[in-house]
Amino acid sequence: MPTMAIIGGQWGDEGKGKIVDLMAEKAKVVARFSGGSNAGHTVIHKGQEFGLHLIPSGIFYPQVTCVIGNGVVIDPALLLKEIDLLNQRGVSTANLVISDRAHLVMPYHILLDGLEEEARGGSAIGTTRKGIGPVFADKVARLGIRAGDLLENDAFYSRLQTVLPHKNKILTLIYGVPPLSTEDICSQYLAYGERLAPYIRDTESIVQEALARGEWVLLEGAQGTMLDPEFGTYPYVTSGTPTVAGACTGLGISPTQITSILGIYKVYTTRVGSGPLPTELCDETGDQIRELAHEFGTTTGRPRRCGWFDGVVGRYSARVNGFTTVALTRLDILDSLPKIKVCIGYEVEGKFLQYPPANAATLEKCKPIYEDMAGWQKPTSHLRHFQDLPAEAQAYVNRLEKIISSPIALISVGPSREQVIVIKPLI
Ligand code: IMP
Repeated sequence: MPTMAIIGGQWGDEGKGKIVDLMAEKAKVVARFSGGSNAGHTVIHKGQEFGLHLIPSGIFYPQVTCVIGNGVVIDPALLLKEIDLLNQRGVSTANLVISDRAHLVMPYHILLDGLEEEARGGSAIGTTRKGIGPVFADKVARLGIRAGDLLENDAFYSRLQTVLPHKNKILTLIYGVPPLSTEDICSQYLAYGERLAPYIRDTESIVQEALARGEWVLLEGAQGTMLDPEFGTYPYVTSGTPTVAGACTGLGISPTQITSILGIYKVYTTRVGSGPLPTELCDETGDQIRELAHEFGTTTGRPRRCGWFDGVVGRYSARVNGFTTVALTRLDILDSLPKIKVCIGYEVEGKFLQYPPANAATLEKCKPIYEDMAGWQKPTSHLRHFQDLPAEAQAYVNRLEKIISSPIALISVGPSREQVIVIKPLI
């Protein structure tokens, strides 16, 4: 029963899409379990670049069932747009299924995400403004509307009639914006429902039946561990569960059914949005990494903040998730640097920390303790074997492996599927 979870070890954008795409070929199911259209997974397939937000990265393989699990929040307008775009580019979505339990992003969630961000002023989180925080808040407040509700017109209308007056009070009385109309939302969403109906199912059974048959199931994470509301840099986090725990609640599987957990780390650090980033490089090196790696958000286009590899974060996310193996991505981006730094700990108020503090204000004060490493200043993107990497690059990878304390199985050295060094085959 090989079931592999693929989890971001940093602040998202680690390159999970490429790694899932690499393995999806051999899988029978690729399932998304968290996040929503805030995610952006870039996949290069047959020489074409695709930016996926909601649809699992296995969609390019017709034999793979692609599941959008109950833990994902779905903006139906954006999902339909993504389906249409894929279909127009010759990719079939006949193998897509959507959980009837997945919560829907409603128009008021998107409005409130923007209004709440404005109200936060200088302490704004820098959300993607896709309604993610408000829809997850409604899920736990028991005010949510789910994909399955789209299949029953009367039930959908009556659910909206219960929820919308409450939302309209917030919109009008707190934020002074006009209320939304039940009829308008209803007709818009029921039209989405008609188009999405063929995809909406009980997806837990699909996943469980595949597991019972002993088929390969990939659990595709979104965002990264440091954006997890429990273990990330709270409150500068997302609202889904990017850690491996989210795979269980977001798909209806047991922890004992997950056989391996692959952590994905970039060989440097990026973050998009606000919040502490101890190893951030606000200098020419940071700009150089951003330009070389084209570090701009797939979803929002915002420039990503760049920094050195943060070993404190690396160590911590490996512990939180129990990574059984690791994939490093974007090694080639460091090819031209004469010197590379690796953060091995933090110093704060005279103390040495090996793990990040819970409090964002304390994390802001943490000073990274660096180890200097020699750069290799040679191209690596054409290399396919670890032993062919320059000695300095091998030393760098070995150092990261020691810090993370989990074996490195793959190193990605470029955007295309072929640009990968396999140290230990995963499948
Ligand atoms: P939200 O998920 O839109 O609420 O945004 C909360 C925080 O998570 C912000 O800092 C976003 O920039 C960040 N975030 C959300 N999704 C992603 C992602 O896929 N990659 C990187 N950062 C993300």
